[in-house]
Amino acid sequence: MKILGIESSCDDTGVAVYDTVNGLLAHRLASQAVHEAFGGVVPELAARDHIRLMLPLVRTVLEAAGMAGTAPDGVAYTRGPGLAGALLVGASLGRSLAFAWNVPACGVHHMEGHLLAPLLESDAPAFPFVALLVSGGHTQLVDVAAPGRYRIIGTTVDDAAGEAFDKTAKLLGLGYPGGPAVARAAESGDPGRFRFPRPMVDRPGTTFSFSGLKTHTLTTVDAHRDERGDVDAQTVADIAHAFQEAVVDTLRIKALRALRESGRARLVVAGGVGANRRLRERLDAECAENGFEVFYPRLEFCTDNGAMIAHAGALRIAAGQHVTDGGFEVRPRWSLEELSPI
Ligand code: KG4
Ligand code: ZN
Repeated sequence: MKILGIESSCDDTGVAVYDTVNGLLAHRLASQAVHEAFGGVVPELAARDHIRLMLPLVRTVLEAAGMAGTAPDGVAYTRGPGLAGALLVGASLGRSLAFAWNVPACGVHHMEGHLLAPLLESDAPAFPFVALLVSGGHTQLVDVAAPGRYRIIGTTVDDAAGEAFDKTAKLLGLGYPGGPAVARAAESGDPGRFRFPRPMVDRPGTTFSFSGLKTHTLTTVDAHRDERGDVDAQTVADIAHAFQEAVVDTLRIKALRALRESGRARLVVAGGVGANRRLRERLDAECAENGFEVFYPRLEFCTDNGAMIAHAGALRIAAGQHVTDGGFEVRPRWSLEELSPI
């Protein structure tokens, strides 16, 4: 069964074809450059750019999959969570194509897409596992008993990890998107110069909070401004390093705690921050030391992409969980716990 997948929850237009027999056939991503000047995603511009980019991308991907002129066996699109206007573009196109082709359609949960993305790799994790979902909008620890059976065991009370990276990058004048920029700057940071607090690690449980760390970063930046209000490049690198270490440590400590408390033996890491090299390094070491296995999607499938939507949608469509009528709705806010088992 060949399923076309469309991702449009935020500022990336992603399209892919996943075949339930042969795996991923083709995938393409168009990252929207229009937001750079604003230092963050502008929802209305995101929606307009999805309209401009999506249909040509669908054509390109169908051609690349060797399916030009033929219909797929189903269409999956991101139904939520995400920006309402952006989601509506993918949902309306996805449902229209499915209706025209007379094939089933499936509205996919964006975070389920992320969570199942490691299954696209050759060393796919077996169920059950604990998932650490770290993206621009979410920071969650999820107990995954089986596909579709999700229990959220830890979440953030304020900022998401990716959001904290983005805000720190803005503060340090490192541009957008912030995560890769902070990680790059951190490479030349002096590890001995600053030590930032590890939020919430001294408290029991698996709840995250990043707003205190954000304030600490802001205070440190302000304390190192020169007469002109600038911060020198080495200090920027040192702060980026201290910030990244604090976030990575917090995620690592809570993820290991979730593994121990849930009794699961495997950890899956997904979402944009899962591309962070330092996070992977620390989780690899800590899991190996404690007898846990850890799995990640390949780097390009950590951040938003169409492949994860085609894949999750294919699993649900193959299980008969699809719609065939012409209407559609999106779910800008939608909990993983509302999903049904696959
Ligand atoms: O999953 P994603 O592409 O979109 C959402 O669903 O939110 O995640 C984007 C987030 C952004 O906040 C970005 O700064 C962060 O992931 N990110 C990173 C890295 N690459 C992307 N954060 C830290 N290190 C990275 N290498
Ligand atoms: Zn995402």
